[in-house]
Amino acid sequence: MTSLFKGTFVDTPKAGELRIRRDHLLGVSSEGYIAHLAPISSPSSQSLLSSSSYSGIEPLSLGEFSFLLPTFSDLHLHAPQYLYAGTGLDLPLMEWLEKYAYRAEERIDQDPLLAERVYERLVQRLKELGTGMVTFFGSIGVEANLILAKKMQEAGLRGFIGKLSMDQSPRATYGEPSADYSLKSVTSFLDSLESYTSTFPPHLRLVEPIITPRFVPVCSDELLTGLEKLGKERGVRVQSHMCEGRDQMDMVFKSRGEKDQHVFDKLGLLGPKTLQAHVTYLDEEMIPLVKDRQVTMAHCPLSNAYMSEKQFPLREALDEDLSVGLGSDIAGGYSPSIQTQMRQAVVIARLREGARCESLGCSFGTSHEKGGKNLRVDWTEALYVATRGGKKGMGMGGALEVGMEFDAQLIELAGTETPGGTGPLDLFDLRQGSELDEAGWKEAVERWWCNGDERNRKGMWIQGRKVA
Ligand code: GUN
Ligand code: FE
Repeated sequence: MTSLFKGTFVDTPKAGELRIRRDHLLGVSSEGYIAHLAPISSPSSQSLLSSSSYSGIEPLSLGEFSFLLPTFSDLHLHAPQYLYAGTGLDLPLMEWLEKYAYRAEERIDQDPLLAERVYERLVQRLKELGTGMVTFFGSIGVEANLILAKKMQEAGLRGFIGKLSMDQSPRATYGEPSADYSLKSVTSFLDSLESYTSTFPPHLRLVEPIITPRFVPVCSDELLTGLEKLGKERGVRVQSHMCEGRDQMDMVFKSRGEKDQHVFDKLGLLGPKTLQAHVTYLDEEMIPLVKDRQVTMAHCPLSNAYMSEKQFPLREALDEDLSVGLGSDIAGGYSPSIQTQMRQAVVIARLREGARCESLGCSFGTSHEKGGKNLRVDWTEALYVATRGGKKGMGMGGALEVGMEFDAQLIELAGTETPGGTGPLDLFDLRQGSELDEAGWKEAVERWWCNGDERNRKGMWIQGRKVA
């Protein structure tokens, strides 16, 4: 055990289940896993505190109005596109890609110093925002992706680094000339990243590769087949974009005579190690396929509101127990904040519910009374998707439980104790300084969920190590 924390712990073991444990003691093993979590007054905590193996470790007291929460995970972020986040969002998806996305990635690949600068700033921003794990789409070039991997590892953050594969690029100066070239390039990336990470002890290897065919329109069948084989051989996860928008899907159907999901499935690219971004066209026909193949999906609500005519059906996905995490989709979405995405996910679900009520002719929130389905998503469910949902989809824990990696953020609720008194939340308004009971804690966490920001974040730990 290397560290002990005492106070309040908040997490979401299941969608819709908010767990608030007050007056608890949490212990972290020397390798960064949660080794103990029980009420302070319990015999196990008491014996832990008095046992000789932990003597000398003073538990860190979280504070009366603070709590530890698992870190956020971003399952879909295009790192090079941070360069121009918030630009040109009035354009349709396919035009925006050619005008901005490919150009930014090309610049990053051509200029390693720019890559260093952009990725350094991005990593700092992720820390400020409480994002402890990111699944990245990078660029085509091997070097820039290695720079990104090293920035994340050095910062102590987890990253799945996706060197892009695309042998059918529409941009003359940015693309890979053949499937064979593309496969050699990604193999070289896997080898280089492996030789870098193998210098760290296994529990401190925070970055790993993820095979990344960009999306069907820019990949040949030969490339997709080769990437599937490579992923299996090397035991590496695969990610792509699936059914994001009408223009993109039409393009696939016109050239392949098949829908996105069938192209991927036919070539073995839908499975338990597959992550697919967007999937806004997930419907009754596609749900059984995604469920059977155990695909994880990255829901990118802000991006989809701009780039897609349809919104991801999060309510249905949760009801079907599908694997879902949140993604910022920088720069299709302009905000790297998963807290923003969480809120946006709830807003989108409420808008879907409003439209359903309107079509059924009933009042908001009561469509279920007319035999329809209530499409709303609750804030605690969004918190689950942002923490445990994303982590679980990538083969990790994402809650605060013995055996899980200790990846946590410290949130302070009371602004009055913050230097300068800048915290946005002042609990004393509501409770007039009295101690928080169970219901009071739930309200307080909800208020943070709605209105909190970086000013409430007082620390972050990844694999037991303090990184911010
Ligand atoms: N589909 C293929 N590439 C991209 C990208 O860079 N961003 C988004 N949003 N969708 C894509
Ligand atoms: Fe994307």
